[in-house]
Amino acid sequence: MILVTGGAGYIGSHCVLSLLENKQEVVVFDNLSTGFQETIDELKKIGNLKFIKGDLSKKEDLNSLFENYKIDSVFHFAAFSQVKESVLNPQKYYSNNVSGTINLLEAMIKNNVKKIVFSSTAAIYGEVQYVPIDEKHIQKPMNPYGKTKLMIENILDDYDNAYGVKSVRLRYFNVVGADIKKRIGERHNPETHLIPNVLKSTFNDARPFEIYGNDYNTKDGTCIRDYINIEDLIDAHLKALKYLENGGKTDFFNLGNAQGYSVKEVFEICKKVTEKDIQFNINKRREGDPEKLVADNKKAKEILNWNPKRNLEYGIKAAYEWEKKLQGGLKNA
Ligand SMILES: NC(=O)c1ccc[n+]([C@@H]2O[C@H](COP(=O)([O-])OP(=O)(O)OC[C@H]3O[C@@H](n4cnc5c(N)ncnc54)[C@H](O)[C@@H]3O)[C@@H](O)[C@H]2O)c1
Repeated sequence: MILVTGGAGYIGSHCVLSLLENKQEVVVFDNLSTGFQETIDELKKIGNLKFIKGDLSKKEDLNSLFENYKIDSVFHFAAFSQVKESVLNPQKYYSNNVSGTINLLEAMIKNNVKKIVFSSTAAIYGEVQYVPIDEKHIQKPMNPYGKTKLMIENILDDYDNAYGVKSVRLRYFNVVGADIKKRIGERHNPETHLIPNVLKSTFNDARPFEIYGNDYNTKDGTCIRDYINIEDLIDAHLKALKYLENGGKTDFFNLGNAQGYSVKEVFEICKKVTEKDIQFNINKRREGDPEKLVADNKKAKEILNWNPKRNLEYGIKAAYEWEKKLQGGLKNA
């Protein structure tokens, strides 16, 4: 059986969906702090899913999870992930992300579970020295959120050396998209990501969208980001688990499309997809926003045999269909 922590959240739920569609038995462990019961209810319609409402901070929750289910491997998505909040309240982040992961690892070791795929982030690289960013890029995260993820990566190295826990750390760039059949999709509160916010703004004509900075050294002056489709991202997770099952060593990989889009280009695609005229204001730059963030994804292609296929328009279309469903109170439009 496969354990998915954070399986009621955005990315974890898409991983569960894929596992269930591949006829795997899955147990989700989630405290529903930022995830949703409706997501679990939807996933239960697809396959053999068990759901445990539990918290990584509670060792008793983890002990009973591992006692009650025969777990072979773990996808670990559960974390808090809002950069701004992590600056204002680092305690919340170090405690949930770092201590929570240590508790999970303790339960894994106690129960002889030695394979984990971990959600890391491009935020561990910090100030960009060069693009495309490969895995050797210096790691100097600029906020507590990124620091928690880098700490966990280091912990995973030490736990391999000492206890033989094998890990794959996947460093995501910007994730976009939703289940193409609209069963699940992105749902954060507050939403801090560009694309869902641009799409949301089309349901409220009165609110023009804010662009932070149009004087960067890029083709149209706005920042450039790399958007990886959720289906491609999940495909990499399944390949990462296969890699570990085949005896692969502990390793880490960037997950991005290796293609950059400016904020204005994202707007143009959103306009095309929604057929709405999206209004925006230009604001001054935000501190700490790098000019360009684009992944070098060769390592994942070579070692995991991964090949991202979906373009940005495909992801935005799926995200828009999902947003329509959310705006309609989760009834199918
Ligand atoms: N969304 C992105 O673009 C992005 C980019 C890079 C990395 N990540 C990482 O991917 C992972 C998933 O992100 P997401 O966008 O799906 O976030 P999300 O908030 O939608 O999902 C996180 C899930 O973890 C659960 N959770 C949090 N703390 C928990 C705890 N102590 N015990 C049990 N469950 C807990 C939440 O209830 C939620 O269901 C996170 O680790 C995040 O840092 C996300």
